[in-house]
Amino acid sequence: MINLVIGAQWGDEGKGKIVDLLGANADYAVRFHGGNNAGHTVVVAGKKYPFHLMPSAILNKGIVGVIANGVIIDPEVLIGEIKTVEAAGISLKNKLVISPRCHLIMPYHKALDEAYENARGENKLGTTRRGIGPTLADKVSYNGLRVYELMHWDIFVEKFTFQAEMKNKILKLFGVTPIKINGELKKLKQYREMLSPFVKDAYALLQQAADKKKNILFEGAHGVMLDTDFSPYPFATGSNVVAGAVNTGSGVSVKNVDKIWAVVKAYTSRVGGGPLPTELSGKMADDIREKGQEYGTTTGRPRRVGWLDLAAVKFTTKVIDANCLAITKLDILTGLPEIKVCVGYKLNGKLVDYSACGYDELAKLTPIYKTFTGWKEDIDGVKKFAKLPKNCQKYLKFISEFLKIPLRIISTGPDRKKYIKI
Ligand code: GDP
Ligand code: IMO
Ligand code: MG
Repeated sequence: MINLVIGAQWGDEGKGKIVDLLGANADYAVRFHGGNNAGHTVVVAGKKYPFHLMPSAILNKGIVGVIANGVIIDPEVLIGEIKTVEAAGISLKNKLVISPRCHLIMPYHKALDEAYENARGENKLGTTRRGIGPTLADKVSYNGLRVYELMHWDIFVEKFTFQAEMKNKILKLFGVTPIKINGELKKLKQYREMLSPFVKDAYALLQQAADKKKNILFEGAHGVMLDTDFSPYPFATGSNVVAGAVNTGSGVSVKNVDKIWAVVKAYTSRVGGGPLPTELSGKMADDIREKGQEYGTTTGRPRRVGWLDLAAVKFTTKVIDANCLAITKLDILTGLPEIKVCVGYKLNGKLVDYSACGYDELAKLTPIYKTFTGWKEDIDGVKKFAKLPKNCQKYLKFISEFLKIPLRIISTGPDRKKYIKI
């Protein structure tokens, strides 16, 4: 069985929670794209684990975590997470595999991300400033450094020095302090030693696992609305988020994937700039943000919030061809007298599709809402769909029918145990 979990909105849908749940039966948990711009939260027995690079299902017994070739790695962040997991009493010996093909986020990438954002001024995109765009740009312009080079120290020193000298010239143009090459090399040498026990051929491992029909869980990051190609670019992240990223990011064919899960938050959130047609403001937005604790897992930034945009989710779930639906954070809507859902858009009085609009048009859309009566009953700890309040059931059924995707998981709280399986 191969499960693929993808965020169907603008990220932070609660993928970590769903991945941890599905990980209970998995042999391998795989990150296959993105980097530590991702922040996936797992809550077990009241303790919060925010993962950025480590596969979020790693806390499950018997699972092997794989960081496959499509992931870009900030070594310092990954080492921090290795320490967190080991401090939780889980030995990662033979439980974590890092592909040598992964590209590395270097200090100059972070400095460049920062410099570009500052130079954009008012037009900044709101990146996580983790060096994502510059690292991926180096990857496709053949200037990247990979885990492979880090493991071959002499080659690494030569290539890092060359790249850092080039990047320092650019940083100087921005008036930014240059990278101290020798100091960075000293730190990187230590990181190399800490990471080397985990570096193995992830491609071969996953191919064999797929051939043997092992249970593999692919963990998507971000959300399809942030995909490089299918977002309202440039309000995007640097990697492809769609289902095909499994193939480029791990070598496993998408043909092998049995279930493609679309994770959908019961409302909308977004960090960073760009159009958000159903965005709320004022007290309603503040209340949802506080109740939902909508603050970035990676940057701590307050997230923008809005009503569920089903017109956008219809588009994203079609692109990924999702066949299972997981709805999260339903509990956050409890107590609202009315709940709105966007089912389409108008531009200058005419009906338009999400896919037909650029970011400038998206910013001008008028959402068409369907309004539901809310529910007051506490849904915390409910384990059966039939036990949910009737209005809550209506809301969920509408979403599933509108998207034409069967609803399989409903999450009703951050903790691992708070879910309904259908
Ligand atoms: P991800 O990036 O998609 O993994 O999502 P994040 O971890 O960045 O943000 C989701 C937040 O919502 C985290 O703090 C989760 O612990 C929390 N969460 C997940 N599912 C639920 C839920 O059903 N109810 C509530 N109240 N919180 C949830
Ligand atoms: P998870 O996996 C929410 C957003 C950033 C910014 C844009 C570009 O936790 O859902 P980048 O640093 O990637 O160059 O920033 O993309 N972004 C995310 N927003 N959740 C994420 O990941 C995100 N990953 C990137 O906020 O708007
Ligand atoms: Mg997140």
